[in-house]
Amino acid sequence: MLLKDIWYVAALSREVRPGRMTRKLIAGEPVALGRTQGGNAFALRDVCPHRAAPLSAGRIVESDAEAGGGPTVECPYHGWRFGTGDGICRAVPSLAEGQTLKLDRIRAGSFPVVERDGVIWMFAASNPRFAEAPEFGPPEPPRQPAGGPRLVERAVFDCNIDHAVVGLMDPAHGPYVHRQWWWRTEHSMHEKAKAFAPRPYGFAMVEHAPSSNSFAYRLLGGKPTTEIDFRLPGVRFETIRNAKGIVLGLTAVTPLDEDRTEVTQIFYWDIGMLSVLRPILRPLVRAFLNQDRAMVDLQQEGLKHESRLMLIDDADAQAKWYAQLKREWAAHREEGREFRNPVPETTLRWRS
Ligand code: FES
Ligand SMILES: [Fe+2]
Repeated sequence: MLLKDIWYVAALSREVRPGRMTRKLIAGEPVALGRTQGGNAFALRDVCPHRAAPLSAGRIVESDAEAGGGPTVECPYHGWRFGTGDGICRAVPSLAEGQTLKLDRIRAGSFPVVERDGVIWMFAASNPRFAEAPEFGPPEPPRQPAGGPRLVERAVFDCNIDHAVVGLMDPAHGPYVHRQWWWRTEHSMHEKAKAFAPRPYGFAMVEHAPSSNSFAYRLLGGKPTTEIDFRLPGVRFETIRNAKGIVLGLTAVTPLDEDRTEVTQIFYWDIGMLSVLRPILRPLVRAFLNQDRAMVDLQQEGLKHESRLMLIDDADAQAKWYAQLKREWAAHREEGREFRNPVPETTLRWRS
């Protein structure tokens, strides 16, 4: 089940240039992601309501004053125009003198967007023809990042979003999937106890000193602490702090469709030394992401033959919470009531 009516990371700001559009599947919906000349990002359903041509193959044009003005997307097939903000038809050029059509009934569909910290978030409305921005915004980081993204890596996993999310939050795979001198070795496994607490639409592994067995944390120097927050639909913030400053990692998992999932890893920081180390950090981040991707791709082979999976205490508790959070999300939307966070305040123990 792909969650709808929730915010997903759609793209990086820098990927969507003024006056341009790109086509992308997000939660199974074709989306024309674009930016007006004036700089506003937008997302229209990428299917013309006339005869289904992708609007992203058209162009962004200002509409005439009589059509209400403002930026529109012009379909490449017959030139119908749709407002970039609301997806409502503004012009049908083939109409002759005296011919009328109720243009405001013709809707391409649009998705609300919010642009923040170099990222375009899209609200995957279940009914894009009448989508309105919800009362809640995209997940807020626990600490505001300083400046824009400093390091970005991205990979497409050939799996359903659930396997990508569970794989990324799974604490027990580190010593196997990420076994390497700068992260974990066979001999570095030891028992851990971590405190967890509920957070809005998610939970946090509360602030703690990270494992001493990680060279990558030692690189930072000082006495770093880290807090890891998970938010629906698949957003993870890792806030690492030491005396010198803050590193914020944002891992965003966006389902393209049921079987393909985009994972974007972004780091923000205000520690000058890290910018110097970027050429060293980038291949490490890429290696990490590729290791996760390779494992879930491999897992797909097994999943062709078996759909039942086991979740054990405590190492898989977070995966269980994720499933419960998703169910609660769907239930509270359906019943039109407050979200009741199913995650308890607790301590989990495992070896990794
Ligand atoms: S298909 Fe878009 S205007 Fe005809
Ligand atoms: Fe991993």
